[in-house]
Amino acid sequence: MLSRRHFLRNSAALAATPMLPRKSAAWDHHTPLIAAPAMAQIAPEGYGETGLWTFGGSLPGTELRFRQGDQLAIRVQNDLPQATSVHWHGLHVPNAMDGVPDLTQTPIEPGQTFDYEFDLPDAGTYWYHSHQQSTEQVERGLYGAIVIEEADGPDVDADLTLVLDDILLTPEAKLAEDFDNPGGASHGGRLGNLILTNGTIDWRQTAHSGDRLRLRLINAATARVFQLGLSGMQGWVVAYDGMPLVAPQPVTEPFPLAPAQRIDLIVDVQADPGMQAHLVQYERDGGYSQASFDISGRSASAARPAPMPLPMNPGWTAPDLANAQNIDMRLEGGMMGQMRAATFQGETMDTRALMQQGQFWALNGTAGMTDTPLARLSSGESARMSLSNDTAFPHAMHLHGMHFAEIAPDGSFGALRDTILVMPRAAQDIAFVADNPGKWLFHCHMLSHQATGMKTWIEVT
Ligand code: C2O
Ligand code: CU
Repeated sequence: MLSRRHFLRNSAALAATPMLPRKSAAWDHHTPLIAAPAMAQIAPEGYGETGLWTFGGSLPGTELRFRQGDQLAIRVQNDLPQATSVHWHGLHVPNAMDGVPDLTQTPIEPGQTFDYEFDLPDAGTYWYHSHQQSTEQVERGLYGAIVIEEADGPDVDADLTLVLDDILLTPEAKLAEDFDNPGGASHGGRLGNLILTNGTIDWRQTAHSGDRLRLRLINAATARVFQLGLSGMQGWVVAYDGMPLVAPQPVTEPFPLAPAQRIDLIVDVQADPGMQAHLVQYERDGGYSQASFDISGRSASAARPAPMPLPMNPGWTAPDLANAQNIDMRLEGGMMGQMRAATFQGETMDTRALMQQGQFWALNGTAGMTDTPLARLSSGESARMSLSNDTAFPHAMHLHGMHFAEIAPDGSFGALRDTILVMPRAAQDIAFVADNPGKWLFHCHMLSHQATGMKTWIEVT
């Protein structure tokens, strides 16, 4: 049986092989971004290649790199056997560019193209992914990183994008195709048996002792919450979900990275030459290497003081909580949950009937999309959303089109995010200014939860 342990043993045995090539070409704005089937060596050697769907022929898809203030103009060409669409996760795009089929655009049919065009006022780490049939299409590999460089970025020896994923392969190294498995969808979602960084089980790179690196972590998995830590490196979080922190936060303990979230780290390599430093991934039985740095020699750069904050992005205004519209957001359903009934397509039904319709989850008593939005906000209005997770599972809740601030228990604003992890039985308030007109999804980024009820929308007019 091909298992995670098996892969771990294999990847340890492979530690002596040369590093795999990494795709990160500069984006040529005139080349179409082609979504098409591709083969890639994902499993250890000896297992053969795995058939995927990718943007640009690689896993992750072509990394799109821009300078802050650039315009993105990309023609997406669909050479897949299914319709698709591209969502630019975390970017404050005009609504018609948001890539949500049937809400903001018609899907891109096989053989067709769609032109995405919008400005990039914000710097940071973002990602793009299919938003059509995403339990299948994201799992097959339709995602990639978007990096928007600050005009005046931090002084580092290397700027590395690390896209994390897990993938479920059969003993023949084929993608397991039961993407909508109800067992996964009604629990924590589909988990893979193989952990990937930039499409490989053994991502490694050479670094010098004393190097300062910027690590852009992106969780592209359909359901896995990564628990991460550092070894042989000292680090600071400088941004969440693309948005800089007011003050860098030292990494002192393992931290979660939920599906769709990003963390920008600045790390100083402390391991000595001949040793290794790691981004560590923690599981119940211990830590595994998520990314390895083989240390050779010492850095030529002088030791630097703790990093400065990244330059703030323009345009954020603090929500006016005194005059905010309050939106309740109860997360309900799933196995071991207490949900008794919910409304689906205008009809109220008990959980058993909902399950027969393939619906396991609900937001505020409603499973799936509705004709009218859950809330209407006028442009410039502030909103306070009170999330309460009444289920037995964590959920990574994502708002399209705008970042929100976490509200701390003392009422102060915390980090800006576009995706927030809400733990079982926990509550979390968030707030934002509805400054981007349009129809915006709010959904769980555990993609099988989204597909089975945990999805709604708001409208800003
Ligand atoms: Cu990254 Cu609606 O998704
Ligand atoms: Cu969920």
